[in-house]
Amino acid sequence: MVSPRGEFTSRFGFVAAAAGSAVGLGNVWGFPTQAASNGGGAFLLIYLLLAFVLAYPVLMAELIIGRHAHTNAVTALRNISPNRLLGNIGAASGIAGCIVASLILSFYAIVAGWMIAFGLAYVADLFRLSSLPAWLTAFGLVRNTVFAGLFIAITIIIVSAGVQRGIERWSERLMPTLLLTLVALSMYVLTLDGAEQGLKIYLLPDVTRALSTELIIDALGSAFFSLSLGVGTMLIYGSYVNDKENLPALGGWVTLVDVGIAVLAGFLVLPAMYAALHNGVEIFTEGGALISEDTLIFTVLPQLFDTMGFTGSLLAIAFFFLMSIAALTSSISMLEAPVAYVVEEHSIERRSAAMLIGTVIALASCFIILNFDTLFGSVIKLTTRYGQPLLGFMFCIYAGWVWHRDALLQEIAKGYPDARNGLFWTFWPWHIRFICPLIILGIFAHMLQQQV
Ligand code: TRP
Repeated sequence: MVSPRGEFTSRFGFVAAAAGSAVGLGNVWGFPTQAASNGGGAFLLIYLLLAFVLAYPVLMAELIIGRHAHTNAVTALRNISPNRLLGNIGAASGIAGCIVASLILSFYAIVAGWMIAFGLAYVADLFRLSSLPAWLTAFGLVRNTVFAGLFIAITIIIVSAGVQRGIERWSERLMPTLLLTLVALSMYVLTLDGAEQGLKIYLLPDVTRALSTELIIDALGSAFFSLSLGVGTMLIYGSYVNDKENLPALGGWVTLVDVGIAVLAGFLVLPAMYAALHNGVEIFTEGGALISEDTLIFTVLPQLFDTMGFTGSLLAIAFFFLMSIAALTSSISMLEAPVAYVVEEHSIERRSAAMLIGTVIALASCFIILNFDTLFGSVIKLTTRYGQPLLGFMFCIYAGWVWHRDALLQEIAKGYPDARNGLFWTFWPWHIRFICPLIILGIFAHMLQQQV
């Protein structure tokens, strides 16, 4: 292996980092809100199914290609191709992935910035700094820019430090904190009046809704975004995994942790919404729909926290701190994708690369903030609805069709000697060849159809 490349030093380090990438605003906020607006239990059921049937196999494609090539997505896809044409298409997909990852970070940083700002607002409130909380929680140009910038700056610092001292060490500390805070918060929320109704809606599926196409598409998108698929993020994390590790098992752990945290977040957010409703907070519009997803957390939860006095303030600080952590372990993985490419292909020093790309992304964030109404929603749509599924499709094609089957088996067998007779090898190769690309194409076709 090329010596200056980083590597995760332990299995826990990898799982913490990859699960850290997977767990983010998507799980802790996106999943529960979508579940709430899509019939609760029905959405949960379909999400679970799709996470294991579609997202896990695609995750494995990225991890296996990544560890085999021990390099970034661009070079990796080129290296596993049998000829120049396929090599160039692969490299182009890799570069597209870096661009999509950067664009995702540019809107992600804005939302993550709000999380930090809300957390600080509650801290400022404890110290009775009366005008600061109002500024921190009001939607303003300066506030948005300052906090998105701050968030990107922290991301740059961690990524600059490289795999072991940066990504691994931080994820190992932050992930367990996140889990503990989430468990504590949901246990507390479940004791509140009204919470029980939220719990019922979350756990009792309305089977008639589980079959609606809209719900299935939403759940699929959610699972894909949630496991950070398509942009080469997981491929690059896979490239830092030691050859001795059993990849299918590691990927399984990452999927379990990711799905587990989403489900756990549902136990916090849905009961919290209904507890807020019980306290007289409006969470539904007159038509019975949920108040806009973008604002749910930033309007409903603070109102809930405010009804709880001092404990509420402490809960709010814990909650927004938790969201900021979740966002940070995701954002470092987004920045890592383009940074690893530039470092390895253009021999630029890691620090300068992180600085340079981070600054460009920060400028993109500013641009989005300045044109918020037109750009924010469109960038999210462009990247998550089109970019991720299309690129995910490419990974299925490269793992299933382009790359030689024997090489694939050999790679899996490195840390899993009996791979040939194992369950994974029985199902996964044809699954990634046929089922996954077909499902992705299916959603994509459906989405285009809806847009017309
Ligand atoms: N999975 C993260 C979340 O749920 C977001 C994320 C991190 C991501 N890296 C990614 C999404 C790469 C798409 C692509 O919030």
